[in-house]
Amino acid sequence: MAVTLAPASVWAASAASGTSAAPSSSPHSQPHPASRAGPGANSRRVIPVNASLGERIYINNCAVCHGDKGAGAMWTQATFNPPPRKFASLQSREELTRERMINSVTYGRPDTAMMPFGSRLSDTEIAAVVDHIRATFMSDKAIAEAAAAASAGNSGAMPPHGHGAAGEKAEIPKPKPAPIVDADMSLPFPGNLAGDGAKGRDFYMANCFTCHGKAGDGEGPRSTFIRPKPRNFLHPDSRRTLNRPALFKAISNGKIGTVMPAWGKVLNDQEIADVAEFVFQEFIRPSPQKKKVSGN
Ligand code: HEC
Ligand code: HEC
Repeated sequence: MAVTLAPASVWAASAASGTSAAPSSSPHSQPHPASRAGPGANSRRVIPVNASLGERIYINNCAVCHGDKGAGAMWTQATFNPPPRKFASLQSREELTRERMINSVTYGRPDTAMMPFGSRLSDTEIAAVVDHIRATFMSDKAIAEAAAAASAGNSGAMPPHGHGAAGEKAEIPKPKPAPIVDADMSLPFPGNLAGDGAKGRDFYMANCFTCHGKAGDGEGPRSTFIRPKPRNFLHPDSRRTLNRPALFKAISNGKIGTVMPAWGKVLNDQEIADVAEFVFQEFIRPSPQKKKVSGN
């Protein structure tokens, strides 16, 4: 059944209860559902041809949060409390019996981002993905490698300043607030691109409003569970700093340590300029008569 569920739709189901407008509604052609924009968009995942059922299910449904190495994807560390468990640790292996894992995957874990998969995956599929995790991330070898990486100060999936020692409760890294320096708001886009704000509006209303809100206030339907919160474009700090080059760069690269996707993976420069132009004109520097056009 739902073995090809894309990470973006998984995310939408978990965090956007009640919203149907996930980034997957993008009109842009994309090679494979698993590479759609979304929190998982920062890493395109390729499914090896000879992948087992369990591995395929893991890549399609779990890697977006649990990471390619089962240590927790980097973006989740600042977003979820608790973050996904690191499978490769002695403590996980002690606590996570096969039965408990099957139970957690089927019914989810209350009050955490770990959602129930019982209605999307069959019993066979759930057993297969659990066995894949146990064989791949909870083996003696995987645990030894994770411990070695952690003691070398690098746990793989964690940002360099994270404290990812195996088995410890990970401290949630806080993105440093950028110093506020007034930007030159007249600067153009790189490469002298001219953005088309009307096209950008369509894209924004399909892909960005879920987090940033229709009014650009950072209060979109998905924003509730997101930490740090999506950027409020109406905030004075945004209006002092987010000129066209800054918008272009932020949208293209995304923001490490937050769920802000790197749209440069799915949009070309012109399309980024279009949506950036919309944000600039609509929220950052609205002309006075435009101010009340978009309500939430
Ligand atoms: C939206 C993010 C997200 C996705 C997608 C996700 N998980 Fe989780 N998972 C979590 C979080 C967060 C926890 C930690 C929950 C806790 O500490 O109780 C977790 C915990 C777990 C645990 C340990 C549960 C326990 O009993 O302590 C297992 C096993 C697990 N996930 C398996 C999976 C599998 C298999 C998939 C894919 C079919 C998956 N997860 C998809 C976020 C996610
Ligand atoms: C899944 C939620 C989500 C989606 C979808 C999303 N963003 Fe964001 N966005 C964020 C978060 C979270 C931040 C980081 C806020 C912070 O660092 O305080 C952010 C930050 C930004 C910033 C400021 C970056 C900076 O350097 O301060 C811009 C500009 C931005 N987003 C534009 C967009 C645009 C345009 C889209 C659609 C093409 C979009 N975002 C889609 C969550 C999202």
